[in-house]
Parts: sequence; C-alpha cells; structure tokens
Amino acid sequence: MSGVPWNAKELTIGELADRSGVPASALRFYERQGLIHSRRTEGNQRRFHRSTLRVVAFIRASQNVGIPLSVIGEVLAILPEGAAPTEQFWGRASDCWSEELNARIERLERMRDLFTECIGCGCLSFEQCALVNPQDRLGEKGSGPHRLNSGKGSLGRS
Ligand code: FES
Repeated sequence: MSGVPWNAKELTIGELADRSGVPASALRFYERQGLIHSRRTEGNQRRFHRSTLRVVAFIRASQNVGIPLSVIGEVLAILPEGAAPTEQFWGRASDCWSEELNARIERLERMRDLFTECIGCGCLSFEQCALVNPQDRLGEKGSGPHRLNSGKGSLGRS
C-alpha cells in the first residue's frame, strides 16, 4: 500500500501503479495509446489526475472481458477531458458490450464442440475437419478435393 493521501489530487506513475495494481509499463503504454493522460512537471515527471484511477479501472474491466484497446479508446474519447467514467457510463458501455460478449461466447462454444471432434484425430483435413474449414468454404465449390486438384494439399504443399 502506498503512503499517498487518499485525497491527493495528482499521482505519480508509481502511485498510480501501486493503487491500481497495473504495472507502470502498462500505464505508459495506455498513455501512448491516448487512453490516459498526464501532465509533466518541470523535472519532466508524469503527474496523473486522481480521476485516472477510475479510467484505469474502466480499461482493466473492459480488457478483462476481451474488449480491444482500440474500442475502449473510442468509448473513452466520449468522456470530457479529465472526467472519470461514472457508474452510469460503465453501465452503458457494459450493456453495449454484453451482446458482443454473448456472441463471442456462442462462437467459442461452437468451436469447442467442433474441437471435441478433433481430439485424437489429427487429420487436419480441409474436406473433413470442421475446424479447418468451419464454414465449409470448399463445400461451396461443390464436392471433390479442390485443394488437391489445385496442387495444394492439406499440408500446404504447392
Ligand atoms: S483434426 Fe480430424 S476432424 Fe479435426
């Protein structure tokens, strides 16, 4: 635990790292990506507004459910500069992302079922393995060994 007063207006990068549990290197990366902002002191040291803690919490919660940083950045850009994400803001973002998350879970469940059929098989066949060819793209061309006919076997030889 850091010895930073609870009401300190600004935090150093070390204090922000201590309080959030996010490594300083990740915080610097977030800053380079424009997700968090700091001002520089005369000695060129970063100072973060204490509201940055909530921004970092927002980023981590979003990342932990698989939201890409680029999307998180787009959402954070809606916030007025220096404002922390409110409960309502997080509520709206998480509502929005829950649909995408459910779709991703369904996709993963389908892949897990297909994967179960692969266990112990090893054929990696474009014609037979639903994981290699989940949308049966070759099937759209009609039956037959299209890859083999084109000179490309399932091991990628040409
Ligand atoms: S590896 Fe044979 S069915 Fe997938």
